[in-house]
Amino acid sequence: MSTPLVLGIETSCDETGVGLVSGGVLLGDALASSMDEHARFGGVVPEVAARAHLEAMAPMVRTALQRAEVDLADVTAVAVTAGPGLSPALQVGLAAGKAYALAAGVPLYAVHHLAGHAAVDVLDHGPLPPRCVALIVSGGHTSLLSVGDLARDEVVHLGDTVDDAAGEAFDKVARLIGLPYPGGPAIDRAAREGDAHAIAFPRPLTGPADPPWTFSFSGLKTAVARWVERHDGPLPVPDIAASFQEAVADTLARKAVAACADQGADTLLMVGGVAANSRVRGLVEERCTAAGLTLRVPPTRLCTDNGAMIAALGDLLVRADVEPDPLDVAADPRARLTGALLHGARTRSGAELDRTDGSLPVA
Ligand code: KG4
Ligand code: ZN
Repeated sequence: MSTPLVLGIETSCDETGVGLVSGGVLLGDALASSMDEHARFGGVVPEVAARAHLEAMAPMVRTALQRAEVDLADVTAVAVTAGPGLSPALQVGLAAGKAYALAAGVPLYAVHHLAGHAAVDVLDHGPLPPRCVALIVSGGHTSLLSVGDLARDEVVHLGDTVDDAAGEAFDKVARLIGLPYPGGPAIDRAAREGDAHAIAFPRPLTGPADPPWTFSFSGLKTAVARWVERHDGPLPVPDIAASFQEAVADTLARKAVAACADQGADTLLMVGGVAANSRVRGLVEERCTAAGLTLRVPPTRLCTDNGAMIAALGDLLVRADVEPDPLDVAADPRARLTGALLHGARTRSGAELDRTDGSLPVA
């Protein structure tokens, strides 16, 4: 049998990502972004993103293959993001994934984008522990999860955001204070010159009577808006950025560390675009060390959307001998995270895989 080699394709938002992973090792990847085309609209325009994916797809596959020094004929499986994300953007990647799988005569895995964010950590830090708490903080999602074997087990939601995602809050607050899209990196940069304690923004849902694993960032965004409205004179942008960033980092760190204690987990896995934030990384690391927890965070470059994360997840599925998807598999722009595959994990015999954790309720 040939060595497994997974081609991963990611097009859920504005990044066209392609990666090649074999046995937990990233051989090569390539990334094109249409971010600049969306900046003047202050957010991603789905049709513009889809057209950019269409143009970038084949060149990115070619570049990733060249960097990995392999041919399409060497690929043994294709993994592609089938949701959640922007529908027109997802359709381009899924169609491309099907075409490459058909052309190469190899199986196709239609995977969940957020499971990819978690899987990418394996590339630099090796296999995940049997069970850990995962904090997923991206532009569209914020969740605390109990994660076992990513390829086989059901992902258990401990809590999610009831309104805005953490990344969404970064993007909206950036807009409020005149920083460009995407707001996360812009706030991260501006905050370096600011005082994180200049303004006391709220830490949402961290009171004793609040649901401990639930997030809410819309009120924090409104608190920043009110502060900006009331302020006379030039805005102290670095101080607002630093104080807002501190409120997000503190809220995430408190809840994640408490969830680990509650679950008896000794490892926190923090992933998604907001995990690229320097203060979020720094504060969560500090709190984890103080609590005796091991923190796993992917390298900054692999926190935001990319193709390596989808290839890494496909590689886990192949090695776990999970049955692939049929070529008529559909995208689901709103898919909730329940596991690696968008349409549920199956064994080779076609049976649904059992949950192995046995202890936690599914939200
Ligand atoms: O995971 P991701 O690349 O895409 C989604 O799946 O949503 O996350 C994108 C989000 C955006 O909201 C962006 O502003 C945020 O991640 N982000 C950051 C940083 N880099 C990206 N937020 C805070 N600090 C950063 N350095
Ligand atoms: Zn993402």
